[in-house]
Amino acid sequence: MSISNNVRFISFEGIDGCGKTTQARLILEKLNKKECKTILVREPGGTRISESIREILLTKGMDELQDRTEALLMTASRAQLTDEVIYPNLELGHWVIADRYTDSTLAYQGGGRNLNVDWLIELNDFATADLHPDLTFIVDVLPEVGFRRRHSSEQDRIEKAGLELQHNVRKMYLELVKRFPERMMIVDGHETIENIHRIIWQEIDRRFFQ
Ligand code: TYD
Repeated sequence: MSISNNVRFISFEGIDGCGKTTQARLILEKLNKKECKTILVREPGGTRISESIREILLTKGMDELQDRTEALLMTASRAQLTDEVIYPNLELGHWVIADRYTDSTLAYQGGGRNLNVDWLIELNDFATADLHPDLTFIVDVLPEVGFRRRHSSEQDRIEKAGLELQHNVRKMYLELVKRFPERMMIVDGHETIENIHRIIWQEIDRRFFQ
């Protein structure tokens, strides 16, 4: 794989309803305005095969899905997206923005489902052939706030697991920031959309344009 040292791969993370998707889209727009060729991907999903895997993962009623199966399917979806979309775009020198990536597995399957985080890190490395985002924003909100903000009253299988899961997921995100401080940055998701965007853009500007 011939990827230059200059890859620009940014991921957005956070609990359900934190507002990361809005922020990822704003950054996509901003980069496009600056004429940086940028793609936005979302997980789980983003390719034909990954979207099929997503169906299994998020469909209500799949209650017998085991935690390790969930972790394997999340990372299988990621492997497909990484090989089919992310690596080829990085090789072309494009920016890649990911609405969730490897840290979601550590936070949800590790923090939320209590699977061993070191195993999950290895699983992620296998799935991505060791690709890591250059920069990761955690849009941090209290689970109660995320819960209220969700637009749809329709909840998917993971959202249905409730507030306690979201608390554990959030806790793991905050631990991950301590573990990977160079790559990860917490942004207070209780701020206004504009303020959050400004803070995120400042960091991207500082890291990649100065
Ligand atoms: P989605 O509808 O895409 O919501 P969001 O806007 O919150 O990203 O649902 C994705 C769900 O899948 C979300 O609850 C987080 C969960 N998830 C995991 O549990 N592990 C993972 O590795 C990924 C990528 C997502």
